[in-house]
Order: sequence, then C-alpha cells, then structure tokens
Amino acid sequence: MSRIAYVSGAYVPHRQAAVHIEDRGYQFADGVYEVIAVRGGTLLDEEPHLQRLHRSLKELRIPAPMSDTALGIVLREIVRRNNINAGIVYLQVTRGVAPRDHAFPRSATPTLVVTARASRRPDPRQWEGGIGVVTIPDIRWRRCDIKSIALVANVLGKQQAREAGVFEAWQVDGQGWITEGTSTNAWIVTNEATVVTRAADNAILNGVTRLALLDIIAREGCRLDERPFTVEEAKTAREAFLTSTTSDVLPVVRIDGAPVGDGKPGPLSRQLRAAYLAHAASPA
Ligand code: PDD
Repeated sequence: MSRIAYVSGAYVPHRQAAVHIEDRGYQFADGVYEVIAVRGGTLLDEEPHLQRLHRSLKELRIPAPMSDTALGIVLREIVRRNNINAGIVYLQVTRGVAPRDHAFPRSATPTLVVTARASRRPDPRQWEGGIGVVTIPDIRWRRCDIKSIALVANVLGKQQAREAGVFEAWQVDGQGWITEGTSTNAWIVTNEATVVTRAADNAILNGVTRLALLDIIAREGCRLDERPFTVEEAKTAREAFLTSTTSDVLPVVRIDGAPVGDGKPGPLSRQLRAAYLAHAASPA
C-alpha cells in the first residue's frame, strides 16, 4: 500500500508530497510540530497535543491553519488512508511561503503537512534491560517550551548519543541542572522514593507523556517533586527514566557510563511504565 501525506489541502502520494523552496519552515525553521502516537488505530492523548500545538502557534504568532474539528478529520483521515494501527502521526505547521525576509510576511497562508507511519517494533531489550544516556551541554535557545521545528541542537545531541552507543543525551544548563533529553523528558527517583522531574518552565518541552505520567503518579499515590536536578544527583539516584510519545517510559540504567542504582530498571520505573502502557491501551 502506498503512503499518503496531507499537504495544505490535498492528500498526495508520500513520494510526491512537497512544499515550496521559499516555505519559511525550510528557510527559517519558522514553524511548529507535534508527534501523536496511534494505538489501536486511534490517536493517543489528541487533546493535550492539540492544546500544546495551539500554545506553540500562539507563542510564534502563527495563525491556526484550520479549526480543530477540521484538523481532527485530517489526522484521522491520514491514519485511515495509511492503514496505521500502531504508529505515529507527524504534523507540522509553518508560517507559509513568502519571499525570504526575516520579518513576518504581510500575508502568508500557514503550510500544514501531516504524515503517518507505522511504528518500528520497539526493542524489548530497551525496557527489559534499560538504556544509557550521556550528558551534554544544553546549547539550545531559551524557549524550549515551544515545540519548534528548529531542532539542530537536538539533532547534534542525539547524534552524540548515537556515537557514544547510548539511547539519549541529557542536556545540562549553565547552572549544572539537567533540562531534558534531545527528544524526551528526564526523571529520577531519589533514595527516599520521590519521583523528581523539572517543572515545565521555558527550558523544557512540556511532554504530553510527562503530563499523562504526572496524573498517573498522583493516582498511584507516589511522592513527586517538580524541581531541577543535577547530573551528580541523577548519578546517585535510586532510579532514572525518560518519557516521550515514541519511547513511553524507558528506564535509564547508565549515565555517562556509570550505573544508576544497581544498573537495572528499578521497581518504580517498571510500575510507572506498566501504568502508562495501561493508559495508552485505554486512555481514561
Ligand atoms: N519529541 N522533549 C523534547 C525536546 C521533545 O522533542 C519531546 C518529544 C519530548 C517529549 O514530549 P512528548 O511526551 O509530548 O512526546 C520532550 C518527539 C516525540 C519528537 O520530536 O519526535
């Protein structure tokens, strides 16, 4: 079956899908995006993803390309046309096509692109044995709360992780605090069994998986502290894990080559992963 993409008003074969060379996304990374999981053929946590999309658009002063009702139809149609049962939908909105000039164009129509693809099978070793991270300086801009398509710092960081033979790089700000991964949020569990994750400030993306897990943590009666933590605190934590739409909850068992706790996925990480998968299988 051939893949289908949606590009500003038309469903087109993925291979022929294109935007203009003067699209501001291409020239300025002047746009935002969302990645939504598809589970059992339906969109997981669609509402918080659309809320975050609106927030990102508002912060960049890009008009919404269409109503939420219309967007919901496009998202579902892309899932249907690509016959996705388990996978992701990628949606991107840019300020549109205009002659190159840094300032906003006087009039431009936002470009909306939506694609979908089936998930690659997750490697069970990642959650059974846990994954490693390296720490790197956070060289990004100061509005990481916006889900901007300007991801070159994240790209360099992920490549550094890849070359170090680990899953993710945790970025560290100028004060020595871990902000987040290059495409994931960062969490630790203290020796007192308190779950710690940075509060959703301008230094991190407020992950939809993060939000779902905060609800789960409250429901399961776990202790939570939303505050920054240092690399040293993470290395001496009892457990660590990361979250994202494409990773769910993944235990982190090595930081810069040193084991976290006993070097195996901890009980709280496993419990929260199981609870998150139950939410993903049948969202409340
Ligand atoms: N990444 N932090 C960053 C920098 C991210 O890019 C992401 C998501 C997250 C987790 O957010 P969520 O739980 O809503 O997926 C945190 C997506 C999946 C991506 O770029 O592919």
